[in-house]
Amino acid sequence: MFTRAAARSLAAPSSRLFSSSAARLHKVAVLGAGGGIGQPLSLLLKSDPLVTSLSLYDIRGAPGVAADVSHVDTGSEVTGYAADQLDQALEGVKVVVIPAGVPRKPGMSRDDLFNTNASIVRDLAAAVARISPEAHILVISNPVNSTVPIVAGTLEKAGVFDPRRVFGVTTLDVVRARRFLSEAVGTSPKNTGVTVVGGHSGPTIVPLLSQTEWGKQVTGESWKKLVHRIQFGGDEVVKAKDGAGSATLSMAYAGANFTNHLLRGLSGEKGVIAPTFVKNPLYADQGIDFFSSPVELGVNGVEKIHPIGTISADEQALLDACLPELKKNIEKGKAFVA
Ligand SMILES: NC(=O)c1ccc[n+]([C@@H]2O[C@H](COP(=O)([O-])OP(=O)(O)OC[C@H]3O[C@@H](n4cnc5c(N)ncnc54)[C@H](O)[C@@H]3O)[C@@H](O)[C@H]2O)c1
Repeated sequence: MFTRAAARSLAAPSSRLFSSSAARLHKVAVLGAGGGIGQPLSLLLKSDPLVTSLSLYDIRGAPGVAADVSHVDTGSEVTGYAADQLDQALEGVKVVVIPAGVPRKPGMSRDDLFNTNASIVRDLAAAVARISPEAHILVISNPVNSTVPIVAGTLEKAGVFDPRRVFGVTTLDVVRARRFLSEAVGTSPKNTGVTVVGGHSGPTIVPLLSQTEWGKQVTGESWKKLVHRIQFGGDEVVKAKDGAGSATLSMAYAGANFTNHLLRGLSGEKGVIAPTFVKNPLYADQGIDFFSSPVELGVNGVEKIHPIGTISADEQALLDACLPELKKNIEKGKAFVA
C-alpha cells in the first residue's frame, strides 16, 4: 500500500526536500542500464529531481544510453560505464538499482531464470560490497524471491550486510493491483490504493483487496479473477511480447517510483510507506525471513516494518499458499550463496 500522499506521487516524482545536503548526495547507479528495463528506468531517473547523479553500467551499451539520456534537460549528471568499469560505476553511489539479467520467455516461470540470474546478481552485489558497502540496493532481477536473499547473503559474507539497505522491488505488483482494481470498479487508479504482500511470483503475490473500500466491492468469481490477474499479470506481457521479453516499460515506471520513495525517505521526509521485499520478522519463526509488507522508508532505509493488518478468510488462504512457496524460493537463494 502506498500512503495517500505517496499514491499521488505515482504519476510524477516528488522533490519535496527536507535536507538539501542529503539531496546532494543522491548518486544513483543502474546496473543493467542497457536493457529493456534499464533504458527507460534510466530515463525516468534522469527526470527525478531527487537524483543528482546517475551512473549507468551494463556489460553492453551503457555509454550509449548515458550519452542519450544525458541530453535530457534536468539537473543531474549522467555517466556511462563499459563492461570493464563496474568499480568506477559504483564509486560514491548511495542507491544501486539492479535490473541486470535475462527476462522470461513464454512458458517460463521466474524461477526458471535462477540459473542465469543468480550468479549475475551475486557478482554485482559483491562489487557493491567492495566499492560502496553503504549503498542501498534495489533488486529488480528475477526471481526476486531468491535474488534478494542472494544479495543479502553475499553482503553478509563480505561483512557489510545491513537489513535496512536491501530491497526487492515488488512495486509492479502494487501498480498492477491499483490499475486492475480501478478498471474493475470504475475509479481512478491514483485514488485506488492496494496493499500487496508476500513475494514477487505467481502465488506468492498476495493482494489485500479487503483492506480498501473499493476492493471490498469485488467478491466471488470476480474477486478470484482479479486476484489471478494481479498474480499473473506479468504473463500477459510475456505472452504478448511473444519471445521478446517481459514487462519493461511498466517495470521501469514501478522501479523509478520505488526509487523516488526511497530517496524521499533518505531525504528525511516522514510517512513514506511502500511494500517491498526485505529482511522481515513477520514470518521469520516459520523460516521465512524475507517478506514484502508495508515498510516505512527513512534516512537509514528501512525505518519500520508494518504488519499486514486485518485480512479476510480468502486472503488468509492466499497467504497460506504463498508461505511454503516463498520459503522454498528463499532457501534456494540462500543455498546458492552458502
Ligand atoms: N521485479 C519485477 O517486478 C520485474 C519485472 C519485470 C522484469 N524483471 C526482471 O528484470 C530483469 C531484466 O529484464 P529486462 O527485460 O530488462 O532484460 P534485458 O535482457 O532486456 O536486459 C538485461 C540487461 O542486463 C544486462 N546484463 C546482463 N548481465 C549483466 C551483468 N553481469 N552486469 C550488468 N549488466 C548485465 C544485459 O546486457 C542487458 O542489457 C529480468 O531478470 C526480469 O525477469 C523484474
